[in-house]
Amino acid sequence: MATLKEMISEEKLRIRVEEVSHEIALGMQGKDFVMVGVLKGSVVFLADLMRALHRRGMCPTVDFLTMSSYGQSTESSGAAKIISGLHEDVAGKVVLLVDDIADTALTLKQARDHILSLGAREALTCVLLDKPARRRVDFAPDYHGFSIQNVFVVGYGLDAANRHRCLPYVAELVDGGGDK
Ligand code: IMP
Ligand code: MG
Repeated sequence: MATLKEMISEEKLRIRVEEVSHEIALGMQGKDFVMVGVLKGSVVFLADLMRALHRRGMCPTVDFLTMSSYGQSTESSGAAKIISGLHEDVAGKVVLLVDDIADTALTLKQARDHILSLGAREALTCVLLDKPARRRVDFAPDYHGFSIQNVFVVGYGLDAANRHRCLPYVAELVDGGGDK
């Protein structure tokens, strides 16, 4: 059985999302942009982030990409692919890719390359969590909420085999996390 150990509280998440929205507001300098969430892990973070951005006077358009996931495993398969693409034309636009976590970063790097191949003027990245110790490609997100150790986490959109996304806080999954 998996045990959940709280790592980042609801209050810490709320405060940090506001701070990240401030950093994005400064970085975007009034530019129009498209927020592209990577499904499904980004949904909770993206929903909070877009409302925080609105409080700072920004209202980006929103679209989604679906990338291949880990399936039932907690280990990356080593290759990410796009399962379902964008509906909005991003040619010539600034895109802010939003995901739950940069782990190996294979997913975000692939997503960013895809957005650029569609002719986006710029493709910036924003993740709630960054696990730099696990990188397999050279990648640093433009914005991130928290840097964490190499542990498997769930909640606030993050899952283990599609479970635990609804937890309002981020928790470490101790034991029973799959094959890790
Ligand atoms: P990547 O290894 O950076 O390509 O991450 C791919 C995807 O794996 C992320 O978008 C997450 O959905 C998922 N992932 C990576 N690390 C974790 C974790 O600790 N908990 C839950 N999902 C994770
Ligand atoms: Mg996932």
